Amino acid sequence: MNNLLLEVENGIAVLTINRPKALNALNSETLAELGQCLAEVEKREDVKVLILTGSGEKSFVAGADISEMVNATPKEGRAMGLLAREAFGRLENMPQVTIAAVNGYALGGGCEISMSCDIRVAAENAKFGQPECGLGILPGFGGTQRLARLVGKGRAKELIFTCDMIDAQEAYRIGLANKMVPQAELLDTCKKMAGRVMKNAPFAVSLAKQAINTGMDTDLDSGLKLEANLFGLAFSTEDKKEGMTAFLTKRKEKHFIGK
Ligand code: CAA
Repeated sequence: MNNLLLEVENGIAVLTINRPKALNALNSETLAELGQCLAEVEKREDVKVLILTGSGEKSFVAGADISEMVNATPKEGRAMGLLAREAFGRLENMPQVTIAAVNGYALGGGCEISMSCDIRVAAENAKFGQPECGLGILPGFGGTQRLARLVGKGRAKELIFTCDMIDAQEAYRIGLANKMVPQAELLDTCKKMAGRVMKNAPFAVSLAKQAINTGMDTDLDSGLKLEANLFGLAFSTEDKKEGMTAFLTKRKEKHFIGK
C-alpha cells in the first residue's frame, strides 16, 4: 500500500490515509487501496473496531484529488465515483465498528468518508465542508445522501450550496461530529471509546449496526421487522447466555466470544 498505513493492536485497527503533501487528498490509487484494505480488515477476527484518520496534524482528508480530476473525462469521473462508492460502502457496512478521528480538514471527499464511519470524533482544529459546487461539481462520494441523512435536508443543502466550512464546535452542534476534543487527546479518546464498545458482545453490536444502517434506508415498519428478526437471531448466541447470566448472578466480568 503506497498511501495507507495500518496498525492493529489490542483489537483496534488504526488506518491512516497517508498523503500528507496533498493533505491526504484521495486519488484513485488511494481509493482502490482503501477498498482492498477494508476487504481484508473486515475478515479479520482480531479487529473489533477500526479508527480511520489522516496523517499529520493539519488535515484528516482534504477531499478528492483535484489535480487528478482537473483533466478527467466524464467516464473517468464516474470511475472515480464508483471506486469511492465501493470503498466507502465497505467502510459503512463492515461488521466492525468504525470511528473517524477527524484531525483537521474534512472537506469534500474527506467529509464524505468521515460520514461513512459509524462515529465521528473531531479534534478542536477540525473543519468540515462540502466545497464541490465551488469547483463546478457536486459532492460525488456520497455527500448529497449521507449528509442529508445525518444532519437533515435543510442543513445539508445549506452546507452544500454555500460551500461554507464549519468548525468542530458547529459540526458538534448540528450532530455531524459526535464529540469534540483537543487534538492531543483525539486518538486516545477514540481508543477509549473503542474500548467501551469492545466490552460488549461483538456479534450483538454488529447486528445492531446492521439494523440501524438498513433500517435508516427503509420505512419504519420494515426496519422494525428487521430489528425483530435480528433480535431473535441474537438469542441463538453464547454471548446472550453469558451477558444475561452475568447480570442475574451479579457477576461483573463477562467473557464474550463473538458468537
Ligand atoms: N486535491 C489535491 N491537492 C490538494 C487538495 C485536494 N483536494 N487539497 C490540498 N491539496 C494540496 C495543495 O494543492 C497543496 O499542494 P502544493 O503544496 O503542491 O501546492 C497542498 O495540498 C497544501 O495545501 P494548501 O497550500 O492549499 O494548504 P492551505 O493550508 O493553504 O489550505 C485547504 C488548506 C483549505 C484544505 C486547501 O488546501 C483547500 O481548499 N483544499 C481543497 C479542498 C477541496 O476543495 N476539497 C474538495 C475536493 S472535491 C471532492 O472532494 C469531490 C467529491 O465529492 C469527492
